[in-house]
Amino acid sequence: MVLQPQLKILISRDKITKAVDRLAFEIKRDYQGKHPLFIGVLKGSFVFLADLIRQLDLPLELDFIGLSSYGAARESSGKVRVVQGLKTPIKGRDVLVIEDIVDTGITTSFLLDYLRKRKPASLKLCALTDKPSRHRVPVSIDYLGFTVPDKFIVGYGIDFNEKFRYLPHIYTLED
Ligand code: IMP
Ligand code: MG
Repeated sequence: MVLQPQLKILISRDKITKAVDRLAFEIKRDYQGKHPLFIGVLKGSFVFLADLIRQLDLPLELDFIGLSSYGAARESSGKVRVVQGLKTPIKGRDVLVIEDIVDTGITTSFLLDYLRKRKPASLKLCALTDKPSRHRVPVSIDYLGFTVPDKFIVGYGIDFNEKFRYLPHIYTLED
């Protein structure tokens, strides 16, 4: 692997695996007897989602939604748009949203409002990482992997300008 001097490991693959196991345990316990619909938020959640569902012995279904708020900048523009819609009707479903990062919370709270209007039976949020010091709107996370500091992170599916998604650990991107 090409070494990137500006990348520092923040959360190792090993710690990620343990967190995924813990989250899978909690989700399996809470969704026993149900057939939930997981909604992965593209693209950052896809590696996490792929690992998580393989630790779950649940008859779950999967869909994806694409949201845009960032453009090519590191800061949220504050305006969220659905750029790729759901294929699955969610009315009456037990919906679990899978996010990579809750940063300001603007994207996630927009998405939860958008989904709530479509009347799911239940709606919960699972996030791999959360930056509580950056929240600008309240978001309550039902299943959380890691609290992270106010730094830009990449790897394990998470990008900067579409780069670094393939890296195995979670890194901070230093200037
Ligand atoms: P929010 O609307 O500010 O909460 O931003 C949510 C989205 O911004 C996340 O789902 C990520 O796609 C992106 N994002 C926020 N912080 C980071 C970061 O540190 N690295 C990569 N993407 C980030
Ligand atoms: Mg995202």
